[in-house]
Amino acid sequence: MGVNQPKSTARQRARASTAWIVGGVCVSLLLTLAAFAWATERSLAAAEANEPFRALSRSPAAQVSFGTELAPEIRAAVAREGDAQRGRDVYASCAVCHLDDGGGRPDGTFPQLAGQHTSVIIKQLVDIREGRRSNPLMLEFARRLSGSQEVADVARYVSGLDRPLHNGVGPGTGLEVGVALYARDCASCHGAHGEGDASRFIPALAGQHYAYMLRQIRNIGAGRRGNAHPDMMALAAGYSDAELMALVDYASRIRGGGAGE
Ligand code: HEC
Ligand code: HEC
Repeated sequence: MGVNQPKSTARQRARASTAWIVGGVCVSLLLTLAAFAWATERSLAAAEANEPFRALSRSPAAQVSFGTELAPEIRAAVAREGDAQRGRDVYASCAVCHLDDGGGRPDGTFPQLAGQHTSVIIKQLVDIREGRRSNPLMLEFARRLSGSQEVADVARYVSGLDRPLHNGVGPGTGLEVGVALYARDCASCHGAHGEGDASRFIPALAGQHYAYMLRQIRNIGAGRRGNAHPDMMALAAGYSDAELMALVDYASRIRGGGAGE
């Protein structure tokens, strides 16, 4: 007995640990299944949320996508037909800062809006309106818009204005670095001529003020501009400040492949 006692205890222990292992495997199987079901449900919900885009994607001009989830009001405004006439009235409240011609200021306090893609204006305006992009100065004005129709109207109006090409440029000292880095890292999204991409909400940079772009790219790299594209955030975070200056200096001098080039 005295000899058997430890043996049977060992056997019991072995049996107990086998039970634990089998139990553990079952639990992790169940967890995997639950996670799988959750993920499937999520991707179905995401596909449903993108339904308006599928309808839009039949018309190539309005095909839209972004690196992260888009807010419902952005999708709603993009799907609407903007009325430039009504947008002109709405824009009266914006002109105090962005000026009548939509050109903003070369010192970079206010960005150029004229000629920017409608989809980009919509996304930025709604991100500001809903607090994803911090802009205390403009918040009240953005909030006053009654809804996605007014957002679409004002975006349509301002994107239809001629882009003035007397924008603020940088010091011009790092252009060789700027042109090389731009071609390597930025052109795939912002375009070889800084023309941006309406379908992916990518801003045109051509004609934009140097000082404004420098503030934005610093903010995007530091994660201070909410809801920016994750790929661009990672890129911007990897440069020295001198490289950022060279990049946007070059970008401030490209002319969208248009008449100004
Ligand atoms: C009180 C001044 C002010 C008013 C009024 C104002 N804005 Fe702005 N807006 C700004 C400032 C400042 C910025 C840039 C903030 C920053 O540096 O992030 C900006 C940025 C923007 C941007 C982002 C541009 C880009 O390239 O990312 C859009 C779009 C915009 N404004 C549209 C509007 C519209 C439309 C109105 C009118 C409904 C308006 N703004 C009224 C000050 C103003
Ligand atoms: C993966 C695509 C992608 C790449 C690559 C990329 N960007 Fe962007 N960039 C974007 C998008 C999208 C936005 C608008 C983000 C938002 O919605 O807030 C943006 C915004 C900007 C802005 C602010 C413009 C404005 O009007 O507010 C600047 C400046 C800019 N990018 C410069 C650059 C430069 C310079 C590079 C190369 C180092 C670069 N980007 C690479 C997608 C990209």
